[in-house]
Amino acid sequence: MGAPAYGAVLLFALAPAAAVVNGSGAGVNSNSVLVALLDSHYTELAELVEKALLLQTLEDAVGRHNVTIFAPRNEALERDLDPEFKRFLLEPRNLKSLQTLLLFHVLPARHPAGSWPAASHPTLSGEDVELAAGANGSMRVAHAAVTRPDAVLRPDGVIHGIERLLVPRSVQEDFNRRRSLAAISAVLPTGAPEVDPRTHRLKKPAPPVLPGAPPVLPVWDAMAPGPSIAPAPAPGPGNGKHHFDGHSQVKDFIQTLVLYGGYNELADILVNLTSLATEMGRLVSEGYVLTVLAPNDEAMARLTTDQLSEPGSPENILYYHMIPEYQTEESMYNAVRRFGKVRYDTLRLPHKVVAREADGSVKFGQGEGSAYLFDPDIYTDGRISVQGIDAVLLPEDDKKPATPVSAPDRKAPAVTGSRKSKLRRGKLLEATCRMAGVFGQRSRLASCQ
Ligand SMILES: *[C@@H]1O[C@H](CO)[C@@H](O)[C@H](O)[C@H]1NC(C)=O
Ligand SMILES: *[C@@H]1O[C@H](CO)[C@@H](O)[C@H](O)[C@H]1NC(C)=O
Ligand SMILES: *[C@@H]1O[C@H](CO)[C@@H](O)[C@H](O)[C@H]1NC(C)=O
Ligand SMILES: *[C@@H]1O[C@H](CO)[C@@H](O)[C@H](O)[C@H]1NC(C)=O
Repeated sequence: MGAPAYGAVLLFALAPAAAVVNGSGAGVNSNSVLVALLDSHYTELAELVEKALLLQTLEDAVGRHNVTIFAPRNEALERDLDPEFKRFLLEPRNLKSLQTLLLFHVLPARHPAGSWPAASHPTLSGEDVELAAGANGSMRVAHAAVTRPDAVLRPDGVIHGIERLLVPRSVQEDFNRRRSLAAISAVLPTGAPEVDPRTHRLKKPAPPVLPGAPPVLPVWDAMAPGPSIAPAPAPGPGNGKHHFDGHSQVKDFIQTLVLYGGYNELADILVNLTSLATEMGRLVSEGYVLTVLAPNDEAMARLTTDQLSEPGSPENILYYHMIPEYQTEESMYNAVRRFGKVRYDTLRLPHKVVAREADGSVKFGQGEGSAYLFDPDIYTDGRISVQGIDAVLLPEDDKKPATPVSAPDRKAPAVTGSRKSKLRRGKLLEATCRMAGVFGQRSRLASCQ
């Protein structure tokens, strides 16, 4: 162990007691924000910083300039963190991800509550983070509220307490990728399956499927029959051989939606309408792939009561936004460029969604019920792809000509700047809850009270 590392450990050991630091180089004295962090009640963060071997880096940083540290509550790191994600962070081979994540919590400048610049700021991780201010003086950093502004003030920096961990996009992506790889490589290759074309069922007891190969049955045959789902001829074949951890992947993409911002309503629905997320997870586990066209919050807010009034509406609407293919922004754009118009199947049989090129982007649907691909590739893990769109799509015969939605002027997607994500309960979720109440299925929903 080299001298700097030893100094760092010494710093950590001494900090709570005397905070007298020797030999660890310039920059850190007993009055440093770094010493204060190690001595604070943010013990989980302090421990992670140490595990990530970042003390020296931070010492060097405070030697050069002031810092602003966002410190998640202990509970945010202990209890509220997805155990699998935590395990990922603590695996030695993922040290780089842990370091990136922690350095994402440190800005190389002094931003006390009194001078809170609501803008995008570089962090020590290299990625930018968004600071925002509420009208009432509340402070936010990315998707986390600042719960204890100026928790620690020192000559060389400040610490703000925040409600939860900030996860930079690159780390979320590393995590997603690592897990998909693990899922695929954990499977042994096996023979090809056979399907009876007349019955649409598998011949013989569930033959194994090659890892990564698409399942033999069309996705609709694998979908669970439900009150609101278009023709689902038989219960899913569920051969018990799950090559993919679809449920985790669905969880990941919901998490990614939340972090991305502007898709809270969809994320809410997927979390709360558990049957839908479970179904998606099951399909992915069985080897199906999905592209989700995710309407953003503004789009969801434009839904009319009429459009929501039919039984099963929320589920039907969402199934119409799921394409049983893996498509990225690039693949769809190339397809519409080449073919002009492309019709994609949806999970809502027999409805298809039409895509074409418009204004250098992909446009789905027709007329006023059309939507631009607005936020490309929000999430792509090889099995689930999520593409943000700026309107809710409705199949042709669902559009009620009697109640034309006054489509507000929308422009082709610009690069999305800093949209404020507001957390609220949307119309679709309310309708879902109402429906569930009517049909006595309240228990399906995590929180409809
Ligand atoms: C640390 O520094 C103090 C003075 O600042 C000195 O008295 C002490 O001997 C030093 N300790 C070590 C281990 O170098
Ligand atoms: C940190 O900020 C204080 C107050 O703004 C300033 O006096 C000090 O020189 C800064 N320290 C460094 C290392 O830039
Ligand atoms: C300020 O407004 C936010 C919502 O914008 C709310 O969550 C927070 O509790 C409010 N804070 C105070 C101090 O009123
Ligand atoms: C579920 O719905 C409730 C209220 O509608 C909302 O407050 C909550 O955030 C939702 N759950 C999640 C994890 O989004």
